[in-house]
Amino acid sequence: MADNRPRRNSDYFGSVIEQRLSRRSVLGGAAALAGAAMGAGLVGCSLAPGSRGFTPISGATTDRVELPEGFFHDVVIRWGESLFSDTPDLDTRRIPDGVLLDPGAARMAARQFGSNCDAFHLFALNDSADHGIACINNEYVDPRLMFPRLSDHITEDRRIDTAWLQRHPEAVAVMKASIGVTVVELIREGGHWRFLRDSPYNRRLTAETPMELRGPVRGSELIRSVGDPAGRWALGTVGNCAGGRTPWGTYLSAEENIQDYFGDWALARRHPDLDARLRVIHDRFPPHQRTSWQGWERVDPRFLMTRNPHEPLRFGWVVEVDPYEPERPAIKRTALGRFSHECATTTTARGGEIVVYSGDDRRFEYVYKFVSKGKFNAREREANRHLLDEGVLHVARFNADGTGMWLPLVHDPQGILSGSTGFPDQATVLLNTRGASDLLGATPMDRPEDIAVSPLTGKVYVACTHNTSRGEAQAGPRGVDAVNPRVGNRWGHIVEIHEDGDDHAARTFRWELLLLAGDPLSADGRFLTQVTGKPLAADDTYFAGFEDAGGLAPFGAPDNLDVDRFGNLWIVTDGDQPRGSNNGCFVAGTEGAGRGQVRQFMSAPLGAEVCGCKFNADGTTLFLNIQHPGENGTVEDPESHWPDGPDRMPRSSLIAVSREDGGVIEA
Ligand code: FEO
Ligand code: CA
Ligand code: CA
Repeated sequence: MADNRPRRNSDYFGSVIEQRLSRRSVLGGAAALAGAAMGAGLVGCSLAPGSRGFTPISGATTDRVELPEGFFHDVVIRWGESLFSDTPDLDTRRIPDGVLLDPGAARMAARQFGSNCDAFHLFALNDSADHGIACINNEYVDPRLMFPRLSDHITEDRRIDTAWLQRHPEAVAVMKASIGVTVVELIREGGHWRFLRDSPYNRRLTAETPMELRGPVRGSELIRSVGDPAGRWALGTVGNCAGGRTPWGTYLSAEENIQDYFGDWALARRHPDLDARLRVIHDRFPPHQRTSWQGWERVDPRFLMTRNPHEPLRFGWVVEVDPYEPERPAIKRTALGRFSHECATTTTARGGEIVVYSGDDRRFEYVYKFVSKGKFNAREREANRHLLDEGVLHVARFNADGTGMWLPLVHDPQGILSGSTGFPDQATVLLNTRGASDLLGATPMDRPEDIAVSPLTGKVYVACTHNTSRGEAQAGPRGVDAVNPRVGNRWGHIVEIHEDGDDHAARTFRWELLLLAGDPLSADGRFLTQVTGKPLAADDTYFAGFEDAGGLAPFGAPDNLDVDRFGNLWIVTDGDQPRGSNNGCFVAGTEGAGRGQVRQFMSAPLGAEVCGCKFNADGTTLFLNIQHPGENGTVEDPESHWPDGPDRMPRSSLIAVSREDGGVIEA
């Protein structure tokens, strides 16, 4: 589509920043830092009065998407909309009648947009900012909003009753078909985004889709299962949370809460024939002791630990999907380690190596960085096909003095990770990444979620969503420390990492706290303009030294992140908000006078978290995924009716936010 929108000042502004950045890239040492300071001034301008930004909104408790004046959104695709004209859309009006229990429901679900959308990335077609292939994670299902009267069949420990599951095997099949990844073509026409049914790129990956295992764990004895005695293939993907994109145009889907799909570990663990290595690995990343959250193992023994104790080892990886080549199977890249991968944020090091940052979203878990052995080849796409199979995975240690180290997770017969410590080979290091990181002395974090890299400064931002178990000042990994400084961290925080030498392959870094979230006007905590000493209280807040508490938006539970072309950090939330409002989308300055200033851009419908948070190529659209609207409701008593309106069931959906004048979205 011809782009006849008026060109805006921001295009010129962006080019000024690019010139500044390229000038900085040829400076070194102190001069580079001086350049950063100059760049900081420019970035701060985007928050200055008179910028073409937005007028912030306040937190809301409505069942709508709230945006600043001058913005609108399209609902691009909703849970259950069919990707193919041979399959009808899910008729959500029939959910109370049990349409998702009908024979054939799973076959249809596997051809429809999946449930609870999370990560989003758009891969351009025809070099257009208005046309591309979206890859979207479908993280999990909420059975109480899918199957009627399920509340009558929930046990005391909040599990689905086994007898109900065995009466309704189709329900398990539907759940498996509703998660994974959706690949779907999108286009903007007449200023509005929509998806294209029957695109040759459209496909679903579900909990039953075969995908290849590659890297050091491929073929390992530990990963061989009944379904694949050679240990080269996995069946399906689950817990697909945040993600990433590679410079060669593939999508990375991160498998996060995979433990929730496996049951009866307590029983399996006691079995005398159990491989002792499995006991060590599963104890550090444990499946459910008895019935899993969804109870699939009561219908499908693949998920039953007493029958298939190796099966969870085929999950917990980063999955690479090629959106442009639908015939290619997805590939699980085992070199990137096995844990609750929140994200797979990818950038290129100075020497051309590919670097993938990932958080392990569990209380007191770690931040990781993979550095490829080979280098990115910008001329020949195919040369990068298996770049993520060889390299070094590192885990972060944050020192109290603001320095840090990336510790290599490499098997070494003479080192810490050797046979004598339970790591006889690299496959074991990667299968038990958490255990190996424990031995190296990594820093346990307050649930590291998404990670973003600034295209302007190269700084790396890590969202630590919250961790109310963080203890008093005390020796030991669960006490407060410099990088997790609040006792009972309710609201979460964001850490800024600056790699030494401005090189993402560096082994050392400097770090500082960017934001300690919460309510800067709270009577229960102090509004700090510098962080000195510890411990801090849960309601103490810090906004990078920004001094005007009244000019800040309260927020909590940062989850997904992105940094725009101006260097501003976009934050979407998943959890309680300090003043009881809904989740939303916020933006923070990272440099100059606006550093630490947080303003609210969007408010989500009732019960929803906000995910995705990625701009299209020209910065005129912000894609947000609205996940689990009406989360605590049931089919009989839905708590949200978004997006379809009164009397309708809530549906997770992708939205595209644009300016009414079609311009670039600025902070
Ligand atoms: Fe799936 Fe950590 O959010
Ligand atoms: Ca997340
Ligand atoms: Ca989340």
